[in-house]
Amino acid sequence: AATVFAGAAQADYPERTITMVVPFAAGGPTDTVARLVAESMSKDLGQQVIVENVGGAGGTLGAGRVASAEADGYTVLLHHIGMATSATLYRKLAYDTLNAFDYVGLVTEVPMTIVARKDLEPTDLKSLVEYAKGNKDTVTVANAGIGAASHLCGMLFMSAIETSLVTVPYKGTGPAMTDLLGGQVDIMCDQTTNTTKQIQGGTIKAFAVTSPARLDIFPDLPTAVEGGLPGFEVGIWHGVYTPKGTPPEAIAKLEGALQKALKDENVAARFAELGTKPSSDADATPAALKAKLEGEIARWKPIIEKAGQYAD
Ligand code: MLT
Repeated sequence: AATVFAGAAQADYPERTITMVVPFAAGGPTDTVARLVAESMSKDLGQQVIVENVGGAGGTLGAGRVASAEADGYTVLLHHIGMATSATLYRKLAYDTLNAFDYVGLVTEVPMTIVARKDLEPTDLKSLVEYAKGNKDTVTVANAGIGAASHLCGMLFMSAIETSLVTVPYKGTGPAMTDLLGGQVDIMCDQTTNTTKQIQGGTIKAFAVTSPARLDIFPDLPTAVEGGLPGFEVGIWHGVYTPKGTPPEAIAKLEGALQKALKDENVAARFAELGTKPSSDADATPAALKAKLEGEIARWKPIIEKAGQYAD
C-alpha cells in the first residue's frame, strides 16, 4: 500500500509551487537565467516555479540551503561553475558537493566580459593590465564572493598578470554592477547576461570577452587571448540540481520541463540578446550535468591550488 501511495503521490507531481533557489542576489546574471527558465518551466509543469535568492559566501549558502531541503521535488537549485570551484576553494563546505544533490540538467554556458567603470583611463586590455600592475594597491576588483564566477575570472586575471589586486565582494554581481556604474569600484569580470546592456549603453567600459571567439553581439570586442592573455578562456555553465533522494518521477518531470523551456523561443531569443544560448537536449539531462560537474571539479582543482586562493 505504501509503495502504491507513494507512486500515486509522485504521479501527480507537481501539486504545488516549486522554489528555485538562486544562490546570488536578485538582478544578477544567475538570477536573469533562472527567472527566464523558471517562468517557462512553470508553463509545462502547471505549477509556479518561483525564484528565491539566497546570496552569500560565493553561492555556497544557497547551495547548502538546497542540499538540506526536503528531497520532494519542490526545492531546486540553479547554480553555475561555482558549484565545481567551491568544492576546492572551501575547505569546510556545509554539503558534500558530489553526494548531496541529484541532477536535472545543464541550462546554458555564458561568456564573461572584462569590464571597468566608464571613466577608468585604460582604453584596451593591454593598457588595463599595465594600469592594474601600476596601481595594484588601489585598483579595486568587484566579485560576488569566493566561489562566484566573477571571483574565478578575477583570480585567473590576477594569475595571468602575476599581480594581486584589492577585491571587493558583493552578494551578487547585480549589486556589484550598481557600484561599477556609480564609479565606486574599478574593474569586474562578469557574465554577458549582466553586462550586455551596460556595454551597449556605454555606461561601462569593456575590454575583452573570455569566450574562444568574439561574440555576435560584440563583434568589435576582442577575446582576452587576442588582447594578450594566452589561454584566458572561461565559460560559465549553469545547471539545475535537487536535493539527493528526490523521487525519479519528479526529476523526470523537471528534466522534461527544463528541456521544453530551453526550446522556448522567448528564452532562446533572450539568451541570444545576452550573448549566450540554451543547452541542447543531450546536455539538459542528469547524466550530462553529473559528468560536467565531476569533470569541472577535476579541471579547476589544480588551477585553484596553483593560484593559492582559498576560503578558510
Ligand atoms: C550573480 O548571479 O550574481 C553572479 O553569478 C555572481 C558570480 O557568480 O559572479
